[in-house]
Amino acid sequence: MKVCRRETFNAAHRLFKEGWSDEKNEEVFGKCSNPNYHGHNYVLETWVEGPIDPETGYVIDLKKLKELVRGEVTDRFDHANLNLDCPEFKNINPTCENIALVIWNILRVKLDEKYKLTVRLWETENNVSEYSGE
Ligand code: NI
Repeated sequence: MKVCRRETFNAAHRLFKEGWSDEKNEEVFGKCSNPNYHGHNYVLETWVEGPIDPETGYVIDLKKLKELVRGEVTDRFDHANLNLDCPEFKNINPTCENIALVIWNILRVKLDEKYKLTVRLWETENNVSEYSGE
């Protein structure tokens, strides 16, 4: 059985590879390489999979999952510049894929091992990435 907590955060980023010229970065990353940064309204889905607890009827208490996601991720990333404010992205390009990977790693160590964790991150209405540890 799978359950999901949906949270949102607004954050700025710039996609670029150090060592590449501005032209090369623009060619590869387009508008997302704007040196003055730009923002997205991210939608973060945190999926937890495991058996239903026969006592509670829950896989996991979604209130506790909400507090975990907010406390560890969205409270820090919301209204942040991911490149400048979040040390996780000091040496990692904050693509939709890498942000999902970073979030998964943050949450994985805080979540009971009995659960399978999947993070799905919507960068726009049309672009999404998903990571389950593989
Ligand atoms: Ni972007």
